[in-house]
Amino acid sequence: MEVETLNPYDYSHIVFFTGAGMSAESGVPTYRGRGGIWHKYKWEEYACQEAFESDPEKVLDFHELRRIEALKCKPHVGHEIIAEIEKNHPDVQVITQNIDGMHQRSGSKNVIELHGSAWRMRCSSEGTVREDLKNGTYSNRKCECGSWLRPDIIWFSDYLDPAVTAKADKIISKANLFISIGTSGVVWPAAGYPQMARSAGALCVEINPEPSEQSDMYDIIYRGKASEVLGELFQVF
Ligand code: APR
Repeated sequence: MEVETLNPYDYSHIVFFTGAGMSAESGVPTYRGRGGIWHKYKWEEYACQEAFESDPEKVLDFHELRRIEALKCKPHVGHEIIAEIEKNHPDVQVITQNIDGMHQRSGSKNVIELHGSAWRMRCSSEGTVREDLKNGTYSNRKCECGSWLRPDIIWFSDYLDPAVTAKADKIISKANLFISIGTSGVVWPAAGYPQMARSAGALCVEINPEPSEQSDMYDIIYRGKASEVLGELFQVF
């Protein structure tokens, strides 16, 4: 596969749009690919409000394990390339579906987390949000008010935070380079972002070893791994 190098300074507004495949080479399992989480666990039992209400401890155990596993993983060179471009370029934005915090751990600062963060907890009755960053294990499972805390992430049937999607929409509408990495393109509204970027006139690039549901939206497609393709696409190190 031949990868044509891009100069980030040829583009004034760059968006890196990432999914679980971005973290796969760090060792974080994807959701739907080979070894994907939703092949092993039924999301109906672990990733929806109904499951949490019927058995909060079981759901929290599952998400706590995801945190413990994520902490064992480290950002890879692909994350570092994105962070390095951001450091030197006036307008680079990461819009991620990932909740694992891997972009921030590699130094990216402009990160929109569409699906929330595994490192924040929200009171299930008051709605207050707090960081829980220190360990894999949760520091508290219950709020001071006595209600269960739930991970501040988007579960199946949850609505995305409208302030977060409004920010993402605004950024994508200005993008002139949109690079999608490691997403199957089946979960909405994120699945609509490549189309949105295309309508904005951005050069749209897909990096994914497999075809995605949105592959038709891209001008350039690289069927390869995130770290390898990013390493060839941007000669930043
Ligand atoms: N590099 C790039 N892409 C990869 C790599 C890799 N090394 N390995 C796997 N992929 C690709 C797969 O081919 C697949 O298309 O990553 C994609 C992962 O797809 P999903 O598991 O569906 O992940 P994602 O698109 O991020 O899922 C969206 O679904 O349940 C949820 O909320 C969860 O945010 C998640 C959302």
